[in-house]
Amino acid sequence: MMVEKNKVVEGDCIEVMDDFDSNSVDFVMFSPPYDVDKEYEDRKGKEVYNLFMTEVMSKLATVLKNDGRFCVVVPFRSGAKTGRWSRLEMLFKCVDGSGMNIRDMIVWNQNDVSGTAWGSWKSASSPNIQYQTEYVVVGYNKQWKKERDGVSTITADEFKKWTISNIWDVTPDSDRSDIVNHPAPYPEELVERCLKLFTYKDALVFDPMVGSGTTCAVAKRFQRDYIGVEKVEKYCRLARSRVRMTDVKSIDLSEDDEVKDEPKQVNLMDYGEKCD
Ligand SMILES: C[S@@+](CC[C@H](N)C(=O)[O-])C[C@H]1O[C@@H](n2cnc3c(N)ncnc32)[C@H](O)[C@@H]1O
Repeated sequence: MMVEKNKVVEGDCIEVMDDFDSNSVDFVMFSPPYDVDKEYEDRKGKEVYNLFMTEVMSKLATVLKNDGRFCVVVPFRSGAKTGRWSRLEMLFKCVDGSGMNIRDMIVWNQNDVSGTAWGSWKSASSPNIQYQTEYVVVGYNKQWKKERDGVSTITADEFKKWTISNIWDVTPDSDRSDIVNHPAPYPEELVERCLKLFTYKDALVFDPMVGSGTTCAVAKRFQRDYIGVEKVEKYCRLARSRVRMTDVKSIDLSEDDEVKDEPKQVNLMDYGEKCD
């Protein structure tokens, strides 16, 4: 049985994924709990968190198509109170264990440093570096290149801007009044970039931990199908109403027509490696 498309489902993603057809999802994007005492999580500690993420990634490997892709947003590590072990390193291991593959890593520069946790001030004893970045781990199930052609909805300017560097400056939009009731939403622009770069129009986009519904709202806006899962009832309601309020944007790439062939005319060195 396949979970209905264009819905946000309340439940535990590990259980809900059992109701998916295998090989049915084109693209997964999510940000897991970071095991840092947010209101939606009971801190598990490294070992239990590892079991949780291992299970999530291996179930995702079953539901993703062979040429399905994923983007997972994680920090490098947490602070002293919640364990300095690396969430990023753990994700790498869980992806590896699932049999899926990592292709790229985007550095999400939030340009936002708050607080002054110096560690040992002016001493080499135990200095502390503050992070203003998180990471978008980009991967795929069995093959990176798409098996079939589809309709891309990215402009030439967007393509150039988002592929010329793996460092993306994207301001968090956590103070938006419509999503303020979730403690850790990621910005719509981050999802828009990933969706337009990595999926065709009408792709099935899945967020197993949808929170305030950002992934599903952006998928709807840019004419992708979506499924979201969220275990906390109040966030589930928030996500559903946010998606309901989201308008579908019409896609117009006509002004882009004259520059469509541009990459063939320029030095490919400017654009990095050609696709494999
Ligand atoms: C970092 S937040 C996601 C925020 C989301 N990307 C957004 O933009 O709003 C993680 C979410 O995962 C949910 N969650 C945690 N474990 C889950 C599980 N096993 N199944 C479904 N949702 C889960 C939490 O309730 C929380 O809302």
